[in-house]
Amino acid sequence: MMPLTEEEQAMLAGTQGPAVQKAMQMIVALAEIYGAQGLVPIVSAQVAGVSYKNLGDAGLEFLEEWAAQGARVRVPTFMNPAGMDLERWQEMGIAPKFARQQQRIIQALMTMGVALTCTCTPYLVGYAPHQGDHLAWSESSAVSFANSVLGARSNREGGPSALAAAITGRTAAYGLHVSENRRATHVIEVHCPLCSEADYGALGYLVGKSVGDGVPYFRFLAQPPVSSQTRGELRLEHLMALGAAMAASGAVALYHIEGVTPEASYALSPAGELPVVSITDITEGYIALDSPLDEIDFVSLGCPHSTLADIEKAAALLEGKRVKATLWITTSRAIREVAEQRGLVARIEATGGKVFSDTCLVVAPVEERGFRAMATNSAKAAFYSPMHSKLQCRFGSLEQCIQAALSGRWTGEGRNLKT
Ligand code: F3S
Repeated sequence: MMPLTEEEQAMLAGTQGPAVQKAMQMIVALAEIYGAQGLVPIVSAQVAGVSYKNLGDAGLEFLEEWAAQGARVRVPTFMNPAGMDLERWQEMGIAPKFARQQQRIIQALMTMGVALTCTCTPYLVGYAPHQGDHLAWSESSAVSFANSVLGARSNREGGPSALAAAITGRTAAYGLHVSENRRATHVIEVHCPLCSEADYGALGYLVGKSVGDGVPYFRFLAQPPVSSQTRGELRLEHLMALGAAMAASGAVALYHIEGVTPEASYALSPAGELPVVSITDITEGYIALDSPLDEIDFVSLGCPHSTLADIEKAAALLEGKRVKATLWITTSRAIREVAEQRGLVARIEATGGKVFSDTCLVVAPVEERGFRAMATNSAKAAFYSPMHSKLQCRFGSLEQCIQAALSGRWTGEGRNLKT
């Protein structure tokens, strides 16, 4: 029998009410399934499965019932993207019934105390954990970033288990909560230069396919030297794209980069050699994610949610022009607000593009809009959109995507554009 503290036993026995008891039963069941040695207190939780598109009525009722039972979070807890911009859903073409049910989900989560962040980049908007913090986060790219770039510790939780962890303040101590499991399983030697976020996404797609749920350790052998101070040419957006893609094509929740990420020096176990995967060309990644489309009627940027720098770049590229295809840039509410204050949203929207918050292409019901051909700079979006949104897509850099938005066509050539 797994050891539980007195307080944990009391939660399980129902002394803190049925809502906490249900949450603790879920945590203990998971701990037993995964052979955890015990439970570990968490610093924060991030709850995915917020979109009505994914949750449906059954999920909505489950959340409302839990909230009515008195479930309340006891650590900072924040929401993943919802199925629509909570304020501008009509501009997205969302049906009123969907919007009503979506608002009920948001309300149930807010009743429990979950913060209305609606983003997969909580680390950009004030919820960045510290190295060594234990978390119960559930969106795969956020989990990857928290583990790999920030050195925090989270398994990829399901929406309900992240919420249960938030309600009890604990999660099961297995997987990436355990130091030994954070060591690398594969060395990835990258011999080709990478420039755009799409290049890192294509690389991530290939590595995720190759290592599955392993822990890759990257050596970027063709890049300019990087220092842990400046991180050289490696930008935040590159790391986000790399992690998101590996979590999509594989189940990578932690990676290391030599000389860059905080646990890289720990990651290589002194015992034994690791399999080496040598990447000399990322073209195969592009080929796998790209469909032969000429005309583009929808361009989606912001998976993971756009950074301010990317919004700035898009605004500059669009300046004074007019889009032919529908252009959506998705970001967090907090970043959109800053972009608005700096005049970037107005500049983009003057061209016909839209900057939406709270949502993204994959969790919004875009299939109902009747788009036929999408362009995106996200390997994760390109990977999921045929399945989740019934959209074929072109995959390339932000610059290529903006070009496609302006012309309504994919001109194709010229990947490895310097960004
Ligand atoms: Fe984020 Fe949606 Fe992409 S949750 S990582 S923008 S699929």
